[in-house]
Amino acid sequence: MMMAVLDQPAIHPRLLAHAEERKWAVEESLRWSAATTSEPRMTLKDVIVSGVEIPAGEVVSLCPPIGNRDPSVFTDPDRWDLDRRPGEHVAFGLGPHLCLGAFLAREELAVALEVLLRRLPNLRLSRPAVITGAMLRGPRSLWVQWDT
Ligand code: HEM
Repeated sequence: MMMAVLDQPAIHPRLLAHAEERKWAVEESLRWSAATTSEPRMTLKDVIVSGVEIPAGEVVSLCPPIGNRDPSVFTDPDRWDLDRRPGEHVAFGLGPHLCLGAFLAREELAVALEVLLRRLPNLRLSRPAVITGAMLRGPRSLWVQWDT
């Protein structure tokens, strides 16, 4: 989230002025780059997925966040866009194992966003950041500067 937000200083006044905008920044960040990518499951019955037969009892690895970049659901999905209203992302999983901490995580992210932007004036990236990782994804480091 901070990587995307700090890359776009023009949106900072909007984020500082409106809690609603911070809420959407959190949702868009979760959609754009979910931290968790892979969820192991076991098939309970024989299934065919996209023409591939998977027998019952197989361990499979699902990657729900792929749906967060589905171009049939999200226009220009690779772009982080504060004006998007990504209500249908699956960053917290799906079904009975939906993340139990989803609402807490959302609040924590919104608070962190506000506090960082408010207390560190003109917070900005000082080096380009890159998202890496397979199971857990995110920038390995975020180099920043701010004015005192
Ligand atoms: C941005 C932060 C977070 C993300 C992206 C996230 C993502 C996820 C995902 C994708 C799952 C589903 C895993 C699966 O289907 O196997 C999950 C499950 C879970 N999460 Fe989170 N999570 C976050 C924060 C938290 C926090 C803050 C807590 C607790 C305070 C939490 C507690 C749990 C628990 C207990 C489950 C297991 C639910 C179950 O299996 O029934 N998560 N999370």
